[in-house]
Amino acid sequence: MKKEASISELGLGCYALSGVYGEVDKDRFRETIKRAKNLGITLFDTAETYGEEAETLLGEMIKPFRDEVVISTKIGAAADPNTSPLRYENVKASCERSLERLQTENIDIYFVHFDDPRTEVEETIEALEELKSEGKIKHYGVSHLPEKRIEEYFKKGDVSFCMMELSAANRGSRKSLLPLCRNHGVKAIAFSVTGRGLLTGEINVSNSFEKGDIRNMDALFKKERFRSGIRVTEKLGEVGERYDKTPVQVGIRWVLEQEGVVSALTGTSSPEHLEENVGGAGWRLKEEDLEELESFFEKEDRILKKKEKEIVREILSEKTSKNISKDFEDLVYVMEVTDDRNLANQEDYEPIFRKLLTLRKKDELERFDIEEAREKLKAIIEL
Ligand SMILES: NC(=O)c1ccc[n+]([C@@H]2O[C@H](COP(=O)([O-])OP(=O)(O)OC[C@H]3O[C@@H](n4cnc5c(N)ncnc54)[C@H](OP(=O)(O)O)[C@@H]3O)[C@@H](O)[C@H]2O)c1
Repeated sequence: MKKEASISELGLGCYALSGVYGEVDKDRFRETIKRAKNLGITLFDTAETYGEEAETLLGEMIKPFRDEVVISTKIGAAADPNTSPLRYENVKASCERSLERLQTENIDIYFVHFDDPRTEVEETIEALEELKSEGKIKHYGVSHLPEKRIEEYFKKGDVSFCMMELSAANRGSRKSLLPLCRNHGVKAIAFSVTGRGLLTGEINVSNSFEKGDIRNMDALFKKERFRSGIRVTEKLGEVGERYDKTPVQVGIRWVLEQEGVVSALTGTSSPEHLEENVGGAGWRLKEEDLEELESFFEKEDRILKKKEKEIVREILSEKTSKNISKDFEDLVYVMEVTDDRNLANQEDYEPIFRKLLTLRKKDELERFDIEEAREKLKAIIEL
C-alpha cells in the first residue's frame, strides 16, 4: 500500500479563483501553486462551489506530483433552499464531478462544505462511507455547519477533519468548536489564517475593495472588529521583532500553536505573498510570548464585547436608510456578533439571515425585508 502524503503546516487554498478577493490572474495563480510545491507545501484545498476552474486548474497543476500532495475538496452547491446537496445521490454525483475535474482517482479529504437542513446526517454519512469503501475518497470532514450539526457528524460518522475559520483576528472557533474537535479526536484545519489579508498590515480602515470582493461584506473589515484587527496586527508585529518575523508570519504561527490544529490554509494568489506566509511554519513561539499574546487577546475581547453590544444596539434601533447595501452589511455585522457572542439561539436567528442572504443574492432585497429582519432580531437578541 502506498504511503499517504503528510500534511504541511501551511496549506494553499483556491478560494481566490472564485473571485472573492477581486479579479484573479490565473497564470499568476498557477505560479503560486508551483511555488507552493517548491516551498514544501503538500496540502491543497479547493471546492466545487469555487467554480469549475478552481478544481480544474488545481488538477492540471498537481498532476505531475499527485502522489506527493494531499487534495481536499468540498461537496457541491452552496446552501440553496431549493436543492439538497447532501442527499445520498447528490453527494455521489458531486464527488464524481470533482474527481473528473481534479483528474485524480481519489480525493484525500472530502468535506461537507455547508449544511443542508433537509437531509439527515445519516444519509450523507452513508454516501461518504460508500465513497470511502470504493476508494474514491480517503477521509472525510465537515466545515461551515452549525456546531450542533458538526457534533452530530462527529457522533454518527468517522469524521477525520474539521475545517474552520481561525486567525489572530478571528479567534471565535477557539471557544467551543476547537475543543469539540479535540474531544472527538478530529483534526482541525484552519482557514483565512491571514485574516483575509488584514494581518499583513497592508490594509487599513480607509481601504476600499473591488466590487464583488467578499471583504466589502465581511464583519472583520467593519467597525470595531476592523479597528481591533489593526491593533492585533500591531501587536503581532511587536512580537515578530523578537524573531525577525512579520506580523502575518507570527499570526500564522499563533494559529498553528493552537492544540488540535494540524494545518493553516492561506489563499494568496501571489508567489511572493506565499513565500512570506510560509515563514509562519517551521518554528515555535516561546511560551512567554504566547502568554503575552493571550493576555492581549483577553483585553481585546473585553473591548470588543462592550463596544460590539453597543454597535448592535445602535444598528437595531436605526431607521432604514436609502442605502439598502449599507443596511444589509450592518445586519451581517449583527449576525457575526450574535453568532460569536451567543446573543440568541442559532435556530431563531439563522432563518432570518438565510432569508436576507437569499434575497440579496437574487437582488430582490427591499427596505421592507430589512425592517422586518430588524424587528425580528430585536425580539430575539439579548443585549
Ligand atoms: N471551508 C470553508 O468554508 C472555507 C472558507 C474560506 C476559505 N476556505 C479555504 O481556506 C483557504 C484560505 O482562506 P483565505 O483564502 O481566506 O486565506 P487568506 O490567506 O487569509 O486570505 C486571502 C487574502 O489575503 C491576502 N493575503 C494573504 N497573504 C498575504 C500577504 N502575505 N500579503 C498581502 N496579502 C496577503 C490575499 O491577497 P493576495 O492574493 O494578493 O496575496 C487574499 O486577498 C481558501 O483559499 C479556501 O481554500 C475554506
